[in-house]
Amino acid sequence: MHHLVETQQFDRESINELFALADTLEKKRDKSLDGKILAALFYEPSTRTRLSFESAMLRLGGDVITMESGESSSQSKGESLEDAIKVISQYADAIVIRHFEVGSAARAAAVSPVPVINAGDGNMGQHPTQALLDLYTIRRELGREDELHIVFVGNLKYYRSPRSLAYLLGKYKNIRITFVSAPELQMENDVKNYLVRQGVVFEETEDLGSVLEEADVLYQTRIAKEWIKDNAEYEKLKGRYIITRAVADSMKKGAIIIHPLPRVGEIAEDVDESAHAVYFKQVGYGLLVRMAILKTILGGT
Ligand code: CP
Repeated sequence: MHHLVETQQFDRESINELFALADTLEKKRDKSLDGKILAALFYEPSTRTRLSFESAMLRLGGDVITMESGESSSQSKGESLEDAIKVISQYADAIVIRHFEVGSAARAAAVSPVPVINAGDGNMGQHPTQALLDLYTIRRELGREDELHIVFVGNLKYYRSPRSLAYLLGKYKNIRITFVSAPELQMENDVKNYLVRQGVVFEETEDLGSVLEEADVLYQTRIAKEWIKDNAEYEKLKGRYIITRAVADSMKKGAIIIHPLPRVGEIAEDVDESAHAVYFKQVGYGLLVRMAILKTILGGT
């Protein structure tokens, strides 16, 4: 692996290798990336992705240079993304980039001599490292990646994370996907066409209750205010699918609730105590996966 731009670039073997490495990294610190520098370029806000990549790099003995926003960089003077990457790639051994435009990570990769990792490109692009940690969470909690019924809920249109996981799930066997959303927030056709080509069974519904008891994984999403420009539309959509404790309690034994986070009310706080709730454990799994990604890309042994 050189650049990590989208989930389609993985096959089952490379995912297995990555996850096997992640399994070995629990509570580990080493010096395998001593002397390596990671540039974390975040043109959009982030808590988990930026800090987990930085923490992962530090735990592996590497160093980090970071940019918290486009406004604090020479983007604000009009510098192009391509020029910025040509410069920053001379300061760092790898670049993690989050950017507001779909395709920005691929543009960065096209001009970068050092590996580029996509940390989210545009609301309808991809967030491949999130999808990998989502799948790793499923594997750790359920013990398998095949034979799953996954219910994606809420904002499936303006949300790169469920898009990326749906693409990844196309690699696995006997996957059933249910997309639960308002008509305005349905999953886009590029993902659905891909699933058809991959032979993945999926359905779309507005009725969460009709599938809740059958789900192995409930993937809740945030109705992203920053991506829904019409405030009236946002207000209409945001309360449509709330996971309350009663909703969580109606899930079958062993089923899990995951969420890329942050949440803003779409999972009630008392769900956190439910055995189904694994979204904070998911954050810890994400650190392991990002350590494994950095070791794989930067050659740490
Ligand atoms: N899940 C996720 O990408 O979170 P951040 O936006 O905080 O990085």
